[in-house]
Amino acid sequence: MTTFDPGYGHDPFRGLCEAAPGPPVYPEERFRVEWGPIFHRGRLDGSARVLVIGQDPAAHEGVARRILCGFAGHRVQGFLAKLGVDRSYVMVNAYLYSLYGTAAPTHTADQLEDRFDWIDAILDTATIEVVVTFGGVAKRVWGRYEQDRSPTSPPPQVGALHPTARNPDAELLANWNAALDLAHGHLAHPDRTVALAHYGDEWADADLAEIPSFDMPAGLPTWMTGAETWAVRGESPEEAPRSGRITVTIPESSRIDRV
Ligand code: URA
Repeated sequence: MTTFDPGYGHDPFRGLCEAAPGPPVYPEERFRVEWGPIFHRGRLDGSARVLVIGQDPAAHEGVARRILCGFAGHRVQGFLAKLGVDRSYVMVNAYLYSLYGTAAPTHTADQLEDRFDWIDAILDTATIEVVVTFGGVAKRVWGRYEQDRSPTSPPPQVGALHPTARNPDAELLANWNAALDLAHGHLAHPDRTVALAHYGDEWADADLAEIPSFDMPAGLPTWMTGAETWAVRGESPEEAPRSGRITVTIPESSRIDRV
């Protein structure tokens, strides 16, 4: 039996999706708003024990409609697996839309309000034992959340480099080992009790963990949850027969002409 993510049928998450900000809160010059908001991945039923904050969705996420399901997501899933967390997590990004351009813009108050509402909803409905932020932008959003919303007894936060940070592998992996140690110490109820196994100096194949079908919308083909690249912006560098290829082109009337 294939299980799947039940989606956003219940409040507070349903209401948050319905109220999702678009432009001008997320200006089209800086965000790929034409690909829509991409909200989360993981448990919204109160069973999450780890809250992951990433940065912004990329090409795979724009099609699969869940965050952190491409290459970066597989690395994050491997990080959670090392903690013995296979199911009890929930993930949101620091931005609701994919960034356009390389620099991450400073959040506006309206963008933060929506992110904070999601974090509030998660903390109100689940007993989060640790928050893991991946990358500087995610860390800043959590810091601003604590400062601006002053949550009562917020969970401890552990900062890690972003899964696709440009640091040399050994540096990134040492940083993730330190984050693992801290997160492991805070986590009282993992899905499995594990003896913590650190990363080596280089990435190993096993460090990319599978994205479970129960995180994804019903009917999503399994290759869309694999670690191999299957979506790129623009022309595909790969030849493929028509049967293995659908090209999505936004109608001209809905395209955004960016300078
Ligand atoms: N995809 C996401 O959804 N978030 C990231 O931070 C990176 C890739």
